[in-house]
Amino acid sequence: MRSRLGEMKHMKFSTKAIHAGQQPDPSTGAIMTPIFQTSTYAQSGMGENKGYEYSRSSNPTRTALEDCIAALENGTFGLAFASGLAAEQGILSLLKTGDHLLSCDDLYGGTYRIFERVIARYNIETSYVTTGKAEDYEKAIQPNTKLIWLETPTNPLLRLVDIRAIAEVAHRHNILLVVDNTFSSPYFQQPLDLGADIVLHSTTKYINGHSDVIGGAIALNDKETYEQIQFYQNAAGGVPGPFDSWLTLRGIKTLAVRMRQHEENARAVAKFLTEHPRVQRVHYPGLPSHPDHELANRQMSGFGGMVSFDFKGTRDDVDRVVRKLRVFTFAESLGGVESLVCHPASMTHGSIPREIRESRGLTDTLLRLSVGIEDIEDLLKDLAQALAE
Ligand SMILES: Cc1ncc(COP(=O)(O)O)c(C=O)c1O
Repeated sequence: MRSRLGEMKHMKFSTKAIHAGQQPDPSTGAIMTPIFQTSTYAQSGMGENKGYEYSRSSNPTRTALEDCIAALENGTFGLAFASGLAAEQGILSLLKTGDHLLSCDDLYGGTYRIFERVIARYNIETSYVTTGKAEDYEKAIQPNTKLIWLETPTNPLLRLVDIRAIAEVAHRHNILLVVDNTFSSPYFQQPLDLGADIVLHSTTKYINGHSDVIGGAIALNDKETYEQIQFYQNAAGGVPGPFDSWLTLRGIKTLAVRMRQHEENARAVAKFLTEHPRVQRVHYPGLPSHPDHELANRQMSGFGGMVSFDFKGTRDDVDRVVRKLRVFTFAESLGGVESLVCHPASMTHGSIPREIRESRGLTDTLLRLSVGIEDIEDLLKDLAQALAE
């Protein structure tokens, strides 16, 4: 199927979310991209085919997804993977033994685990910058630094890193900048436009948005880098199946409306928590008291649907609160239409050693909310009854 990526470039986000990479199926007129549930394709002769040979290398449903995500990130190329971590591994395949990676220190535990326990075995060393300041990134650059890796807003403390300033530093030193844009989704933040070289998503989260698929994707502009990662995608084989690609495409169609509602609800939840006597501190970039509020206003077009807070009490008190919640479900993950609550220290960030976790401000009494798109009255009532003494 021919992609309409070029034609879509100048359209607005909501239009691209519904149409980019997709067109009525030429053989039947079907409006929705079919699920091409096939592993292989008939070829008419040696070296003659219709653009597809084997579904690990490419599949038309996946192509539609890859083109759609590239369009949403204002990128030229997209690649989809079987999970966010598989997409990360695709990017890390750009590195070789002896290279150095520089990363922000507040990041998803699974990403930290790949850095420390997978690529470290190939003698690729990672160091971490604790502040969001571009000059601290510049100071930490080594002669062998090949990638700078940012998550912004960070998980779970929702601090921001200045993408534009760090892109300038990276490019001055001939280093590629990767931004994990999972928390904002391309609706609220477009890192390639701010100078990043590669943008990464766990599509498991907001992009798919319905908590029924594990997936990952990247988008980028440079053809050579794209070809290197595409080579790895095919060579290592961590690709999403056609049905998961189709579900994700279907989820994307409502990304804009979902994100607007996630944000509206998250703002109300953040305000409610700020005023609650049993809450010590609320982390939400939309609050004027947030240390990175000004940067959030500059770099993002909205503040997203994630809110974290420190509870006044002990770990056992926190456990009692999560057991009382009825609309929020206690579970890993985020970005689905339903509200979730997670205890990062024992769940998403359990793979980070306690002393390192605590030195980064990730305490045992921190809870992270993925605020869903249910009726806000029900969400606030649920929080109020669970937090009541
Ligand atoms: C910010 C971020 N990046 C990457 C990942 C990894 O994605 P996946 O679970 O789809 O492999 C996650 C998962 O929670 C995440 O939160």
